[in-house]
Amino acid sequence: MKRFVFYSALLTLLTTHSLLVAQAQTIEPDSLRMQWFADAKLGIFIHWGIYSTGKTSESWAFHNKHITHSDYMEQIDEFTAVNYNPAIWADLIQKSGARYAVITCKHHDGVALWDTKMNNLSTEKSSPAKRDVLSPFVDELRKAGLKVGLYYSLIDWSYPDYPGFLKDSSRYTIADDPMRWQRFLKFCHGQIAELLGQYNPDLLWFDGDWEHSAEEWDASGIRKMILNNNPNTIINGRLQGYGDYDTPEQNFPVSRPNLDYWELCMTTNESWGYYLGDTNFKTPYEIISIFADCISMGGNLLLDIGPQSDGTIPREQVEILTELGYWTHKHSEAIFESRAGISQGHFYGPTTISQDSTTLYLFLQGHQCGNVILKGLNNTIRSVEVLGNGTLLKHKVVGKISWSKVPGLVYIDIPEGVQDKYMTVLKVTLEGPVSLYKGNGGL
Ligand code: GLC
Repeated sequence: MKRFVFYSALLTLLTTHSLLVAQAQTIEPDSLRMQWFADAKLGIFIHWGIYSTGKTSESWAFHNKHITHSDYMEQIDEFTAVNYNPAIWADLIQKSGARYAVITCKHHDGVALWDTKMNNLSTEKSSPAKRDVLSPFVDELRKAGLKVGLYYSLIDWSYPDYPGFLKDSSRYTIADDPMRWQRFLKFCHGQIAELLGQYNPDLLWFDGDWEHSAEEWDASGIRKMILNNNPNTIINGRLQGYGDYDTPEQNFPVSRPNLDYWELCMTTNESWGYYLGDTNFKTPYEIISIFADCISMGGNLLLDIGPQSDGTIPREQVEILTELGYWTHKHSEAIFESRAGISQGHFYGPTTISQDSTTLYLFLQGHQCGNVILKGLNNTIRSVEVLGNGTLLKHKVVGKISWSKVPGLVYIDIPEGVQDKYMTVLKVTLEGPVSLYKGNGGL
């Protein structure tokens, strides 16, 4: 009897413990688990698939009926990967300053870039490339010390047991045929298990969760499977409430999102995949200023490129990543491992703060010279330096009233000739951790 009581107490303890762990895993992201992601700031997104012929948009082209499904799928015959050099890809990503990459292992069209055993729709089994193009890239990322993110579309509009197909027609509804949905789930969870087993990703980036509920996807089961494989794997927010961070897409936050972790994903032109005729590329300055804005508000930027079917990365994107790399390397101490900056009333531009909080970095938009102003800074300033250039700048505290606690305004004089070609960053070293006055001027 005693033994029974002991074992049932132990069982209750263990069950409660695992429930608590499960709850902790589903509700609260562990800040240690998320640390590398918070420090990384920049990731490169890669959309590569059979749509990389440049003739259609990724998957949506057939879903939205701009082309028939069979014509869309014929693009697989052009997926040759003849010029694919994953070492060059990883090198370019590293040069951009990014600390991680996320690649579309499978988009909504269902074509897997790895040798999935769950069906035959893969670059290995169905394309002239005749190979798993994912594995060598993952290897190169790891060799370069970059974190590995795998994009996986939950939606699979080509799979015969998936309900959704074209924008105005579905194959069936789950309510009408729950067994058929179970067959799809087995396939989908099976592919996720393959990705976990073969690549042990640092990040799983789901997409397409909007077509079904958390219960239908068994999102909690997916999360459990991922964390059982590796409790440190991070999951993006597109898993119906079971992810770790939010993913605003193409839309720029104006005020700081009320979230611990978030990542803006954005195209370099207007298309996720390589698209002939889309030449509306953002300039390096535009990308850098958007990036500075993200990190100022505590977020990451996941910047997308779309290689061609043969594996060539378009020249414009190589240039953008190279220029971005010039800028991120020059200003790395203001970017990586930094914390979100001070709010706009103090400085009208993006800012970040060093981990120990004693250095403030001011990102100067446009080609600023003359005086820039810092408001409400309680600290004494030790020095102001142009980052990556070394020039020390003068500053003046204006309007400090000796008997008042309200700090004076800091005017920093920026001469011509010290500016960066894209965005200048000032390093403001403070006496002690940054302290701000936020009042209305009254005492
Ligand atoms: C959207 C689109 C998809 C694209 C993704 C990138 O969810 O459906 O085509 O891959 O955004 O975030």
